[in-house]
Amino acid sequence: MQVDIIRDVKLSKIDHLFVLLAEGRLDVELPEAAGSAVRKAKFEGRSDETLTVLAGEPRKVTLIGLGKHDALTHRGVRAALTTAGRTAKKHRDAKIAILFPYTLPRMDAEQTVLAVADAVAQSDYKYDAFITVKKDQKRIAIHASVIAPEVDAKKLTAKANALAAAVNTVRDLGNMPCNILTARRLAERAEEVCKEIGVKCTVYGKRDIERMKMGGLLAVNRGSVEEPRFVVMEYAPKKARAHVALVGKGITFDSGGISIKPAEKMEEMKFDMCGAAAVIGIIEAAARLQIPVRVTAIFASTDNLPSGSAYKPGEIITMMSGKTVEIINTDAEGRMILGDALHFASNLKPDHILDYATLTGACVVALGSEAAGLFANNDELARKLIESGERVGERLWRLPAWDEYKDLIRSEWADIKNTGGRWGGAITAAVFLKEFVDCPSWAHLDIAGTAYAESENAREARGATAAGVRVTVDFLQSLSAS
Ligand code: BES
Ligand code: MN
Ligand code: ZN
Repeated sequence: MQVDIIRDVKLSKIDHLFVLLAEGRLDVELPEAAGSAVRKAKFEGRSDETLTVLAGEPRKVTLIGLGKHDALTHRGVRAALTTAGRTAKKHRDAKIAILFPYTLPRMDAEQTVLAVADAVAQSDYKYDAFITVKKDQKRIAIHASVIAPEVDAKKLTAKANALAAAVNTVRDLGNMPCNILTARRLAERAEEVCKEIGVKCTVYGKRDIERMKMGGLLAVNRGSVEEPRFVVMEYAPKKARAHVALVGKGITFDSGGISIKPAEKMEEMKFDMCGAAAVIGIIEAAARLQIPVRVTAIFASTDNLPSGSAYKPGEIITMMSGKTVEIINTDAEGRMILGDALHFASNLKPDHILDYATLTGACVVALGSEAAGLFANNDELARKLIESGERVGERLWRLPAWDEYKDLIRSEWADIKNTGGRWGGAITAAVFLKEFVDCPSWAHLDIAGTAYAESENAREARGATAAGVRVTVDFLQSLSAS
């Protein structure tokens, strides 16, 4: 949905005005039509309360309750805004306006308006590129105006559009079917995005990957007829405050390989490239927002398939760093391609390395889809990321990556092995990655549970969510402020 931020909207031109109201805080200034609806209907703002009335100018007003003002959360407000967007879609309203008359916890007025605009922009998202019988053929383009009397509306509209573009890039890539989105296509898409935003992009093909001795990426790619890709995008603004390297897992389809996965839900493994999509989206947002931080976004990409040439349990692979890995399970492929990518990133000597990966089912068992797993070798970095996450409503929950766990990936035949047994699966994966990191400030985000929604929920459509993007954009902005 197209969104702008406006100080004062002409309500006579609006089809549908949505007003979000919290219990105990109805004492806010409202447009006449909304105020009278509140009074006449004795609207209280409870979280289960919504009310639509015919108004005149605007044509319709919907009041959406948020529950107690003291208990306002980013996610609750996001759900209410999604309700607004979905209602507008059902009503076929072409022009809507949104009024959220409060400030979100831990956010200032500007940040609140941007968060509201973000949620509204995404509220009618649907990936329909392959639907040929369009049941919503009559679906109209909705234009939304977020009413914000006290901000620089023009500047914030540009910011909101920059973030929306990046989030849409990531969601579309994630949702794309895996016969179309091969490693080659993902790299091409990265090039297209970079061209649009004036960012340097280098794509390494199979020969280059061989020359760099990326043994992990090449091993996983051996079962495939598709060539692998390794991609490096560089956004280097003048007067950069810091250099952050981002690393993404770009498995375009994860069958498990020779250690093949069960058939049930295997189709969801098309989302196994959401880490790579996230780093493309983050650098896109950083460049569009002109954040004064140098960002290098890196991803390794291939699918993971069984075949006569596929890598097998029992093999020993020499990684780019020179470390040797005994393969126990070919389904632990993400850490194999990330090991090489993290080593490559470490060679750049950035101030921080952040990686994004749909890495383990164990992380989903631990945290479900409410939080991503966070692992870090630096407490300060972990704290900053968690704070950013709380601010933007994208929660990170820290789990340990202590050296004690290294015992679990010790191998008899090689330096390490690629799985650590049944227990602590998200942790042993992180500890494996740590073996390839040479940087005092590194964090790993396991987004296996948050990168895609298995079904539609109150806040988002089914499919890719762009996990990692908002939290990192906030983090980069906090680096540029300090
Ligand atoms: N891509 C999967 C992890 C995953 C699982 C993502 C569920 C999203 C939802 C990863 O490559 C994988 O297969 N991990 C294995 C590791 C195991 C073999 C040590 C897992 O979690 O089962
Ligand atoms: Mn796997
Ligand atoms: Zn995987």
